[in-house]
Amino acid sequence: MYPLSRLTNSPLTPTIDPTPFQDPLQHLVACHDRIEERLQTLERLAPHLRSESEQKRQEAREALDNALNFLERMGALHTQDEEESLFPRLLVKECADMELFKELAAMLETQHREKEGVLENLLTAVKNLPPAPQLPTESQATQVSVLIDHLASLYRPHIMIENQRLIPLSAEYLKEADLEEMRQEMRNRRGL
Ligand SMILES: [Fe+2]
Ligand SMILES: [Fe+2]
Repeated sequence: MYPLSRLTNSPLTPTIDPTPFQDPLQHLVACHDRIEERLQTLERLAPHLRSESEQKRQEAREALDNALNFLERMGALHTQDEEESLFPRLLVKECADMELFKELAAMLETQHREKEGVLENLLTAVKNLPPAPQLPTESQATQVSVLIDHLASLYRPHIMIENQRLIPLSAEYLKEADLEEMRQEMRNRRGL
């Protein structure tokens, strides 16, 4: 069994963003890695929500709150980075891949809205759980677990498409001036 202590005190959990946006595209990829870490945390903790051990239930709930807080806060900034700083710059490039950019951006935006809907439902389901370490009902724990699985099933292919298609296309077509503007916008978005 995965030790629960590693869920709450992961050395990979940054308190602030460690990459100061030298490379905005690399920053987006690094964010994908951090999102994947939280998805794995959520998947690991789900079975412990109804653990017989009060301590494990408490630890699982803390890990759940931390991971969701990160996905809600950082996920929103990350989506803005893509939709407000990256897509518009790619969509004005006059090139043979223009139609591809449009289709890709439209698909990714649709996936963002789907992911946001499921995350919202998951946050609501977690809010409806009794305060830790009280034991949630089986149906409450199942609902949280199903929504975690749904969120991961949406996020993973989305991240894969972005890493394999969006980022390489962006690296190919964006100029240094585009990247500098993106860098500044991403910093402003975080009050840096
Ligand atoms: Fe995205
Ligand atoms: Fe992304």
